[in-house]
Amino acid sequence: MERTKIGIIGCGVISNTYLHDITQYYRELEVTACGDVNPAAAQQKAREYEIPHAYTVEQLLEDPEIVIVINLTPPKFHTGINRRILEAGKHVFCEKPFALSLEEAREIEDLAKEKKLYVGCAPDTFLGSSLQTCGKLIRDGWIGKPLYATANMMSGGVETWHPSPDFFYKEGGGPLFDMGPYYLTALVTLLGKIEKIQSVARTGFEKRTIYSEPRRGQELRVEIPTHYSAILQMEGNVAVSMNMSFDIWYSSLPRMEIYGTQGTLVVPDPNMSGGEPLLYRFENTIDEVYGESKEALNRPVKPVQVPELYHRLADYTRGLGVLELAQAIRKKRDPRTGTRLACHVTEAMNGIMEAARSGSTYVMQTDCERPEPLPLGGEAGRI
Ligand SMILES: NC(=O)c1ccc[n+]([C@@H]2O[C@H](COP(=O)([O-])OP(=O)(O)OC[C@H]3O[C@@H](n4cnc5c(N)ncnc54)[C@H](O)[C@@H]3O)[C@@H](O)[C@H]2O)c1
Repeated sequence: MERTKIGIIGCGVISNTYLHDITQYYRELEVTACGDVNPAAAQQKAREYEIPHAYTVEQLLEDPEIVIVINLTPPKFHTGINRRILEAGKHVFCEKPFALSLEEAREIEDLAKEKKLYVGCAPDTFLGSSLQTCGKLIRDGWIGKPLYATANMMSGGVETWHPSPDFFYKEGGGPLFDMGPYYLTALVTLLGKIEKIQSVARTGFEKRTIYSEPRRGQELRVEIPTHYSAILQMEGNVAVSMNMSFDIWYSSLPRMEIYGTQGTLVVPDPNMSGGEPLLYRFENTIDEVYGESKEALNRPVKPVQVPELYHRLADYTRGLGVLELAQAIRKKRDPRTGTRLACHVTEAMNGIMEAARSGSTYVMQTDCERPEPLPLGGEAGRI
């Protein structure tokens, strides 16, 4: 089997998930090098996951064997590192957010075109079993025509678990740039492109206390909004209400629901690759058709059981997008996680910020099609 050689730049928290999942599940990929601005971090991950090389960034980019470089650095370094990877003649898979602005995103898109290289971007969770199943249910008409949706990421912030939470409260962080890509990508891949945006933004707390080790008890200054409430108008006139927050201690709002002419689809957490969608068909709620039947009127509304139709290797996984990118490179086609989708999501995040700043409706400029669904069946760990 042909194995695509991979280098990873940025050996922090999320590199553990990539390294574990790629080495365990995706036999077509082979991580041959870890690189980091901090040599100890690269050495530690290389040792832990038995990766042959621990490199500096320069050494990794000079290694002729490496075909794809995964960029797992903090957001503000994404564009600079992506540029260097492409300049070195290698394909890129970048963690989210792809870029801080649409201009930066387009710069990388243009450079990749010029160099005839491919770029994929996280999130790749829409390639996982739960969101692929949701896409199939919508396409097959189980909820009729989608009319509305709600998307809510209601959390208390990352300083409860992340060892270096600072970048989440500076430009390029916040709930919108941290978790927004999962929700926006899920909406676009399920419902189509975003056309118009309105929003409001707030900063609920000027300072935050770090609860995680090793800096437990220290305070962080918040430089950006940490709560957004937005209304998105999507293709086909679908109206979406969206909340992205680091300011909420508890919420019972659903993560995502899509309401159609014939039913409701409860979409599992878009941050996860697995999870069972719930489907409520209109037939189950129109109990007046049973007339005076007390039994029918008292019957609870139950979801239709739908199977997950694709492989679920684990609920929380990363790396499927890298596998799909490797296949796209071999077949000389754009990856499903490519720059058109990444540019659209980057513009939407900035559009939500801009609409909040100006108080006006933001009209999207970029276009984007729904990525091709994955084929059903096949071997686990392969596409
Ligand atoms: N932590 C998570 O659970 C998670 C989940 C999904 C996606 N992400 C995304 O992954 C990226 C990294 O997040 P993280 O939590 O792993 O961050 P982290 O701070 O834990 O790790 C970042 C690593 O990048 C290195 N680094 C920083 N600047 C660099 C540079 N210029 N060149 C080379 N290396 C550099 C740091 O030394 C560090 O080892 C972010 O974009 C984040 O949004 C994180």
